[in-house]
Parts: sequence; C-alpha cells; structure tokens
Amino acid sequence: MENNKKIKIGLIGLGTVGSGVFKTLGGFDHVEIVKIAVKNKNKKRDIENLDEGIITDNPYEIVNDPSIDIVVELIGGIEPAFDLIKTAISNGKHIVTANKELLAKHGEELFRHAEAHNRVVLYEAAVAGGIPIITPVKTILAGNNITKIEAILNGTTNYILTKMDVEGASYEDVLKEAQKLGYAEADPTSDVEGYDSAYKIAILSSISFKKRINIDNVYKEGISKIKAQDIKAANDLGYKIKLVALAQIDKDEKVDVRVHPMLVSKDSILAHIDYVKNAIKLEGYPVGSIALSGAGAGEFPTASSVIGDILGIADELGTTDYLLPMMRCKHKESAQMINIMDTVNKYYLSINAKNEKGVIGKIGAICAENNISLASIVQRGVEENNTADIAVITEMALERDVRKTIDMLEADESINTVASLIRVQTDK
Ligand code: HSE
Repeated sequence: MENNKKIKIGLIGLGTVGSGVFKTLGGFDHVEIVKIAVKNKNKKRDIENLDEGIITDNPYEIVNDPSIDIVVELIGGIEPAFDLIKTAISNGKHIVTANKELLAKHGEELFRHAEAHNRVVLYEAAVAGGIPIITPVKTILAGNNITKIEAILNGTTNYILTKMDVEGASYEDVLKEAQKLGYAEADPTSDVEGYDSAYKIAILSSISFKKRINIDNVYKEGISKIKAQDIKAANDLGYKIKLVALAQIDKDEKVDVRVHPMLVSKDSILAHIDYVKNAIKLEGYPVGSIALSGAGAGEFPTASSVIGDILGIADELGTTDYLLPMMRCKHKESAQMINIMDTVNKYYLSINAKNEKGVIGKIGAICAENNISLASIVQRGVEENNTADIAVITEMALERDVRKTIDMLEADESINTVASLIRVQTDK
C-alpha cells in the first residue's frame, strides 16, 4: 500500500461512541470513513456532514469490502460482533474495538486468529473509556513487573454510589433517577451487578500480568445490596464505599482478580473519584505507584481512545509488514487464579441484633472462635423494634473464616441478621 493513499475505515455502530468517532475523525485527512453499518437505517440522526449514502444495515458489507483497511466495531455484545471481527480479520483487515465483553470472553481465540493473519486488534476504548491505560501498559510500562491494580472502572455505579453518599438516598431511588437522566441503562444489570467492571479488570489484569485470565474465575459482587446506612456507617468510620475492581499477583504468581464494593479510606485516591469518573491505580516495579483518572465513558472521551487506535494503525499501514508489535497479544500461559474463599481481607459487617446485654461480647467471641480479630465494634443506635445495629471492622481475616462466622452469627438467637459484608481497603 502506498503511503499517500487515504486509509479507509468501516464503522460498525453509530451509537454514542460511533457518533463521537465520526465527528472527531473528520479532522484527519489521511483517514476516511467510507461505510457505516447501523441497526436501523431510518432512524433520524442529528450528525453534521453524515452522507446517508455510506450507511448500510448490513455490517457484512463492511467486513467483506476489499477496499476497507480498518474495521471499527462499536456495537458490543458477543454476536454478531464476534463473527464480524473474525470475518474482517480473515479478509485482511485490522480491527479497533471497544467490546470488553467479547475480549474478556473470547480474547484468546480472537488474538490467535489475528496473529495467524498478521493483523492487529486494538481496544484502548474497551477499558475506562477515555483514560489511556491499555496502550501505556503495553508500551511504556512494558518493562515493569506490575503487581497490583485497584480501579473504579464503571461510571454508572460510581454515579449511583456518589449520589447515595451526597444525598443519603437509597440505591433504588438513585438508580431510578439515574435511569431517567440516561446515566443508567433501562436494564442496569451489566453495570450494577459488576459484569462490566469484571470484563474490564479481566482485560487489564491479563495484559498487566501477561497471563490469560478466565473470566469465569473473576469473582464479582455488584452494588445492588448496598444500603444508605452502610454508606453512613462507612463515612462515620472514615471511609467511602466504591465498586472496586482489584487485581493482584503474589510471589508464587497466583492471581487474584475480583470486583466488589469496598470501603476505601477517605484520604485514598479512589475515594476522590466521584460521579461518572473512572480511575486506575497501578503498582509496579520500577515505576512505583501511579494513578490515572478521567472520563470512563461518554461520546467524546471514548472516541478519543478509538481514534487514537485508528491513527496508530493508519500511520503504520504501508510502512511495515509487521504492524505495532508491542500492541500484539503475546502471552499464552493461563493464570492460576485464587478463589475468593482463600483471600485475606479486612471486613466491615453490619449486624442487626436484639438489644440485650452481652450481644457485643457474643459477637467478639464468635469472631475469635473463627480466628478473626476485631479492629472496631460500634453500636450505631437502637431501632424502634428494640434491635441494635452494630458495625464491625475486622483485622485481616480469611474470607472462608468470615463466611463461617456470618453463618454462626446468624444462627445465634440474639442476632437477627448480618445485613452487610463489605471488604475494606488495606492500603491507600
Ligand atoms: N456502562 C459503562 C459505565 C460504560 O457505566 O462505565 C461502558 O463500559
């Protein structure tokens, strides 16, 4: 291919991110969007300079078009995205995608297929929208031994938790409001139950630890069980509650990847990431501890990552037979993953018990019986029905022991329920 030829782009998907890509890519003379696939051709679109003639409702017209160099997939989900990308690669096209679910579930097959055809798949937009993290980890941080990532990777849940904190409102009320404002989807499951964050941390930990991460072994808990009283108790104890995506690797190369709510210290970086913002804190040697924050979603921030990937490919096309070697997937080994039950954490427990003598003593005794030492225990008032809410923070404890403790506490006649179990950040 000659260097002065315009690079031809086929765009699959013209939703929020696709529109942002269309609007921003026009400023670059050496690339040209020649075809756009949409679901509904008749939908009214308020996009300046959009030539209706290049719009199709058949995405295979793009992946099978011999003139197209780069296919940009922005429809998400597994099918038809998976087949479209594989077909595009077989037809010699390079790929830019924001599809976290597809990469987390079928990355291995996709990257093997791409390598077999000497094509690249770039996906900066799949993790944390506009924050550059995939490219830095693969390039300038490549010489690091990355050992830990602690991140907020979902804007919807961070918006809900921030609103609950600021307004003292319930999860249900804030979710409804967020849906009305368009911050949360009509079916919010993927965001609020932690799937979206799990896909993202699986991708990020895979490239950071240079191992394949089986998404089925990524433990996840969402935010739908977080109560206003947990947020209040956390505040009083010096914490904020965030949905944290965590990945760490120990000296035996065992990998712990999970998503769950976490009490983070008020003076930690993550505690200051509010509303739809995302952030990633990463520890490695020799770089030390670094953090990046910014918009994790949205039309223009996510388009920034997509067009960066497009230009990265476009600028090398025609100059080499082996594009972007540092951006390729080279790891083959599967990570040995730690089960959540074998992890060691600090915990916050919210216990509702009868308001009677000796209850706090009993809680302490049951915890001690299960090797759990308490860092703090506070009775947070008495309810109208003469029950007491008690907030407990443990020292570091084995998850298996904590689960057993909860069963024993709930079996005790003085204790009504352990209403919440939330893990606590151990370092800032
Ligand atoms: N739904 C995601 C979020 C953005 O709320 O952050 C796309 O991954």
